[in-house]
Amino acid sequence: MTEKLFWIFIATFLVAVASFTVYEDNFDDDTYDVDDNNNNGERQGKILFPFVSIVRFANVDCASTNTMNGTCLARRECNNLNGTITGNCAARRGRCCIVSRACGTATNVNNTYFTSPGYPAAYAGGQACSIIVNRCNNNICQLRIDLLDMVLAQPNGDGVCATDALTITGGNTIVPILCGDNTGQTLFVDFNGNAAITISVTATLATTFTRRWNIRLTQLGCDCPGLAPNGCLQYYTGVMGTIRSFNYGTAANTALSGSLVTGTRQLANLNYGICIRMEAGFCAIQYSQAANDVFSFTVTGDVEGADNTVLGTAVGAVNGAACTTDFVVIPNPIVVGTNLGAGTDRFCGLGFVPVQSGAKPFVLYVVTDANEGATAITPPDIANRGFSLAYTQIAC
Ligand SMILES: *[C@@H]1O[C@H](CO)[C@@H](O)[C@H](O)[C@H]1NC(C)=O
Ligand SMILES: *[C@@H]1O[C@H](CO)[C@@H](O)[C@H](O)[C@H]1NC(C)=O
Ligand SMILES: *[C@@H]1O[C@H](CO)[C@@H](O)[C@H](O)[C@H]1NC(C)=O
Repeated sequence: MTEKLFWIFIATFLVAVASFTVYEDNFDDDTYDVDDNNNNGERQGKILFPFVSIVRFANVDCASTNTMNGTCLARRECNNLNGTITGNCAARRGRCCIVSRACGTATNVNNTYFTSPGYPAAYAGGQACSIIVNRCNNNICQLRIDLLDMVLAQPNGDGVCATDALTITGGNTIVPILCGDNTGQTLFVDFNGNAAITISVTATLATTFTRRWNIRLTQLGCDCPGLAPNGCLQYYTGVMGTIRSFNYGTAANTALSGSLVTGTRQLANLNYGICIRMEAGFCAIQYSQAANDVFSFTVTGDVEGADNTVLGTAVGAVNGAACTTDFVVIPNPIVVGTNLGAGTDRFCGLGFVPVQSGAKPFVLYVVTDANEGATAITPPDIANRGFSLAYTQIAC
C-alpha cells in the first residue's frame, strides 16, 4: 500500500514538472516538421516523458550571414516577430532568426538590424527613412547602435550634413547629426525613461553613389556589463585601440567650401565625449596620432597650405588658448616626450604631440563649431579630416 502511494506521488510530481516546463519560454513547436529528419538520433534526446516532448534552449546569438546575426528562437516566435529564418540552431531544435527592419517601421526586439532599402545594393535616396526603437522591457537603459556599414553623402565643404543626414533623437544622450563614412563607429544612447529613440536618415534623391547602411540595434539592460557610462556617446574597452572622429577617412572631401576652397570631412557642431573603460591594473592613458597617416590629426587650419614638415608634426600642433573653434579636450595631460605637464587640455591644429593623462574616468571630448570651411574665423579650416588617435592604457 505504501509502495502504491509512493508511485502515485512520483507520477503526480512528474506530470506537474512536465506541465510547468512546457510553458517555459521556448518549446519546440516544430516537432513534426517534414524538414526535420530523424536519422541523426536527435529526437531521442528530446523525449523526456512518453507523453510530452519538451525542448528548451537559450536565446543566444547565432551566426547567420556575414552582415547580420540571428537569435536562436522557436520557429513560431520568429514568425511572430516577422523575422527571417536562416537555419537551425541549438542542435537543430531552434531556428536562427534575423530581425531586420526597413524604412517606416518600429521595433522592440533586441538585435534588430535597420538597413537601407535594397541593402546591400546602393540606395538612391528619396523620402526620409526612419525606425522607432522602443524598449523591449522596463529594465533597458541604453541602446547600442553599431554602424556596421554606414555610407552617406559627404558633408558640404563647410562640414554640414546638407545632402544626407543621420539623426538620432528621443534618447537622453545628445547625438550630433552625422553623415559621410561612419562604418565601424558605435554609439551608445541612453533611453529617456520609456520614450522611444528614433533613428532617421534623410538622403537626397538627386545624389547617387554607393549610399547604404546596416545598423545593429542592441538593447542593453540597466545591469548589463557592456553599458557605457551615462552620456558617453562612444565607449571603448580594451588596453589599446583607435578612436576616430565621425567621417574620418583617407580621401579628401570633394565638395568645395562656401568660399570655394577644398572642403572638409570634419563634421560641424560636434560636442561629445569618447569614454574608454579603465582596464584592471591600468592607471593612465596615452594618446598619439595614428602612424603613417599625416592627416590623422587635422582639426583646424589649412591642410592644403601645409607641407610634410607641418602636417602630422609638432610644428603643426596647436594647443591652449589658440584652440577656440574645433579641438579635442584631454584632461590634465602630460607631454610624453618631456614628461612635463602640457599646461592646457585643448588640442587642435594639424599635428598632435603624444600626451598621457591620469585623470579618471578616461574621456576625450570632441568639440567643433558650426562652420568647418574657410569662412570660419582665423585660422581658416581647409580640407580638415578630423582625427584618428591611437590610445594605449598605461599600467599602474
Ligand atoms: C555577429 O556576432 C559576432 C560574435 O558576437 C560578432 O563578432 C559579429 O560582429 C556579429 N556580426 C554582425 C554582423 O552583427
Ligand atoms: C509583421 O508584419 C505585419 C504585416 O506587415 C504587421 O502588421 C505586423 O505589425 C508586423 N509585426 C511586427 C512585430 O513587426
Ligand atoms: C541583447 O542582445 C545582446 C547581444 O546578443 C545581449 O548582450 C543583451 O543582453 C541583450 N539584451 C537583452 C535585454 O536581453
